[in-house]
Amino acid sequence: MLLTGRTLSFSGDPAVEASSVRYTEKGAVLVSDGNILWTGQAGEEPADLSAGAERHDYGDNLILPGFVDGHVHYPQIGVIASFGTQLLDWLKMYTFPEEARFADRDHADRTAKLFLDLLLANGTTTAAVYCTVHPESADAFFAEASARKLRMIAGKILMDRNAPQSVRDTAQSGYDDTKSLIEKWHGQGRNLYGVTPRFAPTSTPAQLEACGTLMSEFPDVYLQSHVSENIDEVQWVKELFPVTRSYQDVYAQFGMLGPRALYGHAIHMDEVDLAQAAETGTKYVHCPTSNLFIGSGLFRMHETRDAGVEVMLGSDVGGGTSLSPFATMKAAYEIAQLCGYSLTPEEAFWQSTSGGADTLLLGHQIGKIEVGFEADIVVLNLNSTPIIRQRMNQAKSLRDILFAQMILADDRAVRATYAAGRLVYQAED
Ligand code: GUN
Ligand code: ZN
Repeated sequence: MLLTGRTLSFSGDPAVEASSVRYTEKGAVLVSDGNILWTGQAGEEPADLSAGAERHDYGDNLILPGFVDGHVHYPQIGVIASFGTQLLDWLKMYTFPEEARFADRDHADRTAKLFLDLLLANGTTTAAVYCTVHPESADAFFAEASARKLRMIAGKILMDRNAPQSVRDTAQSGYDDTKSLIEKWHGQGRNLYGVTPRFAPTSTPAQLEACGTLMSEFPDVYLQSHVSENIDEVQWVKELFPVTRSYQDVYAQFGMLGPRALYGHAIHMDEVDLAQAAETGTKYVHCPTSNLFIGSGLFRMHETRDAGVEVMLGSDVGGGTSLSPFATMKAAYEIAQLCGYSLTPEEAFWQSTSGGADTLLLGHQIGKIEVGFEADIVVLNLNSTPIIRQRMNQAKSLRDILFAQMILADDRAVRATYAAGRLVYQAED
């Protein structure tokens, strides 16, 4: 298959090296067996490689790596846009009751399908996904992701206290179920497992210890959780773990920090926390639409990155308000503005593709339009609405083009999405 159009990829962080932006006006990508076989100027594709290839001419549409979402809850799609609460009440009023429904495998199957349809329609091909406490919810998700050959990280939540019975496990069952799910799904096709303790307040010390044990027993799985999102939550963690220096330090004490650990939010951190994250290689996921919507606070991305902590972006649906990476990038820009820093569109697109892939330690497989990479690709219509079209008429540079998309575009811009070289979403004409 040969795709032609404008192509965009990043060889590194554009904030560090401006030349890492790889943009070709008339570009081409040759895909074979799920991987990128060649990329370059359209018309220059090697005849021996491209002979007989199915051709898709995307004209002046933009072909780029599929987007990466570092933090999202598939079972919460039903409670997106729930009114009037901050984190702890939001969990109690909306989220726990909704998650209780996932004991039913049929409901989990239906929701996993819907969620992945929506994710792909937004151009996102890889995500770090929270399921519910029910192992069936993870089975449903991985089965559906496998059917579409997606590269996904997911895990069942562990939660053995401070939540209704219907969404609780125990330290032992959480450990046992997680272990069976890792053995069943991790490395199966493109699936990857993330051990997923919800957050410190809903796990007993025994359960957190079991998570640390799983991390040492399975050194190549991920760990995902939440840290320091909301002031009341931080205070609650102080009460639950009175002798521990900080919220993040609770996780440190149970062996839950490290390069494969992804923590959502990380808003209310001090310098010692940042130094600890940098030193251990722990990653933070900035969830800007969620932080605004639930009223959690402003994540200081610039300061955090300057402290040496890797940061990627996440939608955090259903606390977040959109699965669209454009909405996430726009909110990240707005929050950065409030923190005295202008997030460039190059940086935001990099974070949403190759930078995000690097943070997930998948930067050698996905996130770039380069030879040998897995062919997870999105095609964007750069003139998807009248207001974008008139703005694009004034766009004089790639930065202008990308910035207009980042602020104004949504799922209407996504023309096609490919995963492992297969068309998995196509917009209606
Ligand atoms: N903290 C613990 N659980 C959750 C959740 O489901 N969403 C968000 N945004 N924060 C959390
Ligand atoms: Zn979350």
